[in-house]
Amino acid sequence: MDRLVIQGGHPLRGRIRVSGAKNAALPCLAAALLTEEPLVLSNLPAVADIRTMVKVLQALGTEASLEPHPDGFELTARLACAGSDDPKAPYDLVKTMRASILVLGPLLARFGRATVSLPGGCAIGARPVNLHLEALERMGALLEISHGYIHASVKGRLKAIDHTFEKVSVGATENILMAAALAEGTTVLRNAALEPEIGDLAQLLVEMGASIEGIGTGTLTITGVPQLHGCEHAVIADRIEAGTYLCAVAAACGDVVLDRCEPEHLRSLLDLLERSGCVITERDGQDGRQLRIQREEGQKLRSKDVTTLPFPGFPTDLQAQVMAVMTQACGISVINEGIFENRFQHAMELERLGANLRTDGHTAIIAGPAALTGCTVMATDLRASAALVIAGLVAKGETIVDRIYHLDRGYSGLEKKLQGAGARIERVGGGKV
Ligand code: EPZ
Repeated sequence: MDRLVIQGGHPLRGRIRVSGAKNAALPCLAAALLTEEPLVLSNLPAVADIRTMVKVLQALGTEASLEPHPDGFELTARLACAGSDDPKAPYDLVKTMRASILVLGPLLARFGRATVSLPGGCAIGARPVNLHLEALERMGALLEISHGYIHASVKGRLKAIDHTFEKVSVGATENILMAAALAEGTTVLRNAALEPEIGDLAQLLVEMGASIEGIGTGTLTITGVPQLHGCEHAVIADRIEAGTYLCAVAAACGDVVLDRCEPEHLRSLLDLLERSGCVITERDGQDGRQLRIQREEGQKLRSKDVTTLPFPGFPTDLQAQVMAVMTQACGISVINEGIFENRFQHAMELERLGANLRTDGHTAIIAGPAALTGCTVMATDLRASAALVIAGLVAKGETIVDRIYHLDRGYSGLEKKLQGAGARIERVGGGKV
């Protein structure tokens, strides 16, 4: 099992190019099930979750290939889904990636039937799929759960609904948006999630021939069409990857330019880091927008409170990384996790590195600045791993981050990108440390 070995205490200086967004790429890949024509998706991050989703699509009768870009950080997928008589997303694949549930809506809409393993809980919380299932049932789907699988079918086409999601859910909005694109009639989805990744999926669906109004708002109006066609689409930049590198500089100090990012998707974090004392500048680059972050050594950070919320609130996917930053800020910082019930597992590991913090339910209290010192820590989920890397970049001496297969699910070439900004970080095979 690979580990990351970090020699901390050195500021970051240089440029980092942001890859495409994993969480936009996954629903866009699932959209390939909506048409028999070829779909070409570029700017996909070269991460394990993308390969898993492609395996799920292949199991569902999709011809798929993944071509790496020359720098190895991104992939282009070529997909064509002829379909299968018995579309089934098996447990072995679904258990490794919950986003596999996103195939349910498209399969039902196009083939009228689907069998998809129930994803179950995961390290960060229970994460049920009731919101997905309730909406599909209202659209006419017959659902039966047995032997750990959702067995779904519909007579004829799915029917349009006027539906208010009981709770804001990224995945449920995406699943039902895809289902509605091929349903009969005009669907109105209210209390839809506003995350930029949903805007990207909606944009792709429009390029495939879907009729969607209200993109970027909480009310999506989708007029179903009998069929969709293929297209080429480049997914948006990964706001969480960009935010992770911003947090790394805020915590470890330095001066880094991020290429190809979208500052509008990161307002809550940019605002927080500026209020904490970092200097952030935005400008147009050759290849999209650029963000520069500066925090010189010796420049104090101010502690700030954070509550995670659906977009445009502060993202739960940056909560762990910001906790690592707040260990270096002067004063007390209170972090409230408003989305998931068990997303503080990085806190104990940060404590092992010397952070001064306490958690109580959904709240973490961090007193800083703490003098972090390197040790071996264990990654528990994707964003927790990123927080430990950030803390390792700060900590004096050597930090070993174990179980980085979590990190490989969602960060393309993290250690190579950080090395490019002067970080002393290396990937080492399990046997060698
Ligand atoms: C997406 O997960 C992301 N995953 C997550 O990214 C992200 O943390 C999350 O949105 C919140 O922003 C992908 O996009 C692939 P939700 P998703 O449905 O869609 C509850 C990462 O690190 N809920 O918006 O699964 C749920 O338990 C990850 O990249 C229900 O109660 O999240 C949670 O408390 C991890 N019933 C809240 O809603 C449902 O049917 C929001 O979850 C669905 C969700």
